[in-house]
Formats: sequence, structure tokens, C-alpha cells
Amino acid sequence: MKFSTICLAASILILSGCKPKEAMVSPISEITWGKDGGKTIKLFTLTNKNGMEVKISNFGAVINSIVVPDRNGKMENIVLGFDSLKSYQGMHPYFGSLVGRYGNRIALGKFSLNGNNYTLAVNNGVNHLHGGIKGFNKQVFQIDTTYSTPDSSVIGLSYLSPDMEEGYPGNLKLKVNYVLTNNNEIKIEYEAETDKPTVLNITNHSYFNLTACKENILNHELVLMADSITPTDTTLIPTGILAPVAGTPFDFTIAHKIGERIDQVPGGYDINYKLRNKTGQLVQAAEVYEPASGRVLQAFTSEPGVQFYTGNFLDGSLTGFNGIKYQQHYGFCLEAQHFPDSPNKPQFPSVVLNPGEKYTQLTVYKFSVK
Ligand code: GLA
Repeated sequence: MKFSTICLAASILILSGCKPKEAMVSPISEITWGKDGGKTIKLFTLTNKNGMEVKISNFGAVINSIVVPDRNGKMENIVLGFDSLKSYQGMHPYFGSLVGRYGNRIALGKFSLNGNNYTLAVNNGVNHLHGGIKGFNKQVFQIDTTYSTPDSSVIGLSYLSPDMEEGYPGNLKLKVNYVLTNNNEIKIEYEAETDKPTVLNITNHSYFNLTACKENILNHELVLMADSITPTDTTLIPTGILAPVAGTPFDFTIAHKIGERIDQVPGGYDINYKLRNKTGQLVQAAEVYEPASGRVLQAFTSEPGVQFYTGNFLDGSLTGFNGIKYQQHYGFCLEAQHFPDSPNKPQFPSVVLNPGEKYTQLTVYKFSVK
């Protein structure tokens, strides 16, 4: 073949869009969203073959939006969030964020480990919440990898949390992969290692509203694969016992509307459920059905618990996508996690991570319609 013929053939291939097959299945696009402390912040868009679209940033490893079809194929975003990076850099209740080092509360911001006492920020009444003043939700993650396969698109992020950051011991190397599959699943794979004994409880804090915020979430129907909760004191610290849900407004072992008994729960639901997860493998934690749109969310996790939170502290003061003011109960969270205050509750599953061990967690949010 002559050189000019090869060039012609190559041009035709390029013009006809002949790219590697996988890139056509799930292309990842990115924009520069802004800067944080001089570092460039990106916003990635992952799209699967069904047109489901997920936006993820390396600021706070945040899930910014999740666009899924309703039963008529109408594509809408079903998580709370903001258009601008600036809003995520400001005060907000962890919309879509990766939360750590310790998702949820540690009583009075204190714990001891191997005889050493540690003091953390008290940033929620008298307790420590969600990693402190500048938790992982406000950190810039390194972008390790972005790629597509025929079945999925992947964003790999990492963050090196230095020894004693926010009062937690050990240099902690955290990796997270967000995977969008052609089965309309978002898989969140976490891995971490430390060089000193430490405690760790990572979660994703997305607020879902399957109506796409046309109304609050009280009409959503929920099933939780859990028979007991960790009841709390008035500051939301577990008392340390497990209480059966049977016969209480916390019983979602069969489907109930979230709003059906919420009046019997002062302020709304904000409680950790102990999942029926005996193995630490991936099991289903929850199923949520929204009757008007037909959208279904199934949550799966390898974690022993899930914090069910009904956006009780939303009060209309935050304006999100499409100018919507996020009122009380405009979103619900299913925060896959270990139990709150585990560092001070030896009877709860351990959250200690030692050097030489690997922390792993897998949480999956799967969307469908019925
Ligand atoms: C978690 C907590 C809630 C609240 C939210 C953020 O879900 O359990 O009490 O702090 O985070 O507002």
C-alpha cells in the first residue's frame, strides 16, 4: 500500500468515528470546574449505554448528580446538589460527599486506642461528626485513573490523609473507585491503608429524591433489610444496645411510606440500622420505590450498618439545582457504614485499622423502574 493510501484509509477511519469500541460504549467527559487552594478541580460525566449519567468531582470525591429514567423514560437528576463548585466549598450538609475519616458521630470527640487518647474536633453539639472541621468532603482528591470498558466507566480517586489530620493517627492512604455499569448501578469501591493504628468509617452521603425534587420524600416506599437499630441519646450517640424494630415506627422490614409514621419519630429518621449482614460480603441493605415516577433504588453494601437519614435539618436555606430550595425531608440518605461511636463501643463491630491491614468497602446503588 502506498503511503497516501494508508493516510486516506486512516482519515476515513478517524472521520467515521472509528474509535476503540469501549470508548463508544461509555465515554467519560470532563470539565474544569474551578480551583481549590490552587489545585484544579474537575467535574467528570460518566454515561452508560442506557443514557444514565453520573457526575463526579475530585473535590470531596463528590457525586454531584445522578440522572436516571422514570417509568416513561424521562431522564432526571435524583440527588440533591449544586451547579457550582463554590457551593460545595461552602457550608452544606455533605451533599453527595465522601465522608471520613469517621462518618457519623464520636461521643465528645474523644477515643482511645492502644492506651493512647485522641481528641477530635467537636463540630456537632458536644460530639464529633463526619471527620471534623475539614473532613474528606472538603479535600481535593488526586485523579488516579479514568477509563471505560464495554460494560462500565470508572473514575479512580485517592487521598493521602496525613498523620494527625483532624486529630486522627496515622498516614492514611484512601482510594475510591466510582464505577457506572450498563446495569444502571453505581459501584463505590473503597480501599485504605495506614502506617499507625487508627479508626476509619467511610461513607457516601448522597441525598436521594426519586421524584427529582418535585416533592419531598415522604411518599417514597422503603424496605430496610434490618431487624434492629442502635438507639441513641438526645445527642444522637448510640446507647450501646441493639433494639429490635418490630412494633416500632423504625420497622421497615416490609414496605412502608417514609412519611407514614415519621410523626412518631421526633425530628424524623436519623438512625443507624444493623443490617442482616453476617459475612461482610455485599448484601442488599434497602429498596426504595417512588410510586409517581416508578423509580426504584436498591442499595447494597459490605458494611454492617446503614444510617437512614431523612434530611431533617434541611430548612429551605440552601438552593440547589434548578433553583430548588431544599426544604425539610427533601432528600433521604442511606449511608452505608459501621455503627456510630464504635471507637467507644467495644461491643460494636471494630473500626480499627492497623498497619499491614487493608480496609475495603463496597457499596452499590442500583436504579430501575416498576
Ligand atoms: C448524618 C447525620 C445527621 C446529619 C447529617 C448531615 O446523616 O446522622 O444527623 O448530621 O449527616 O446534616
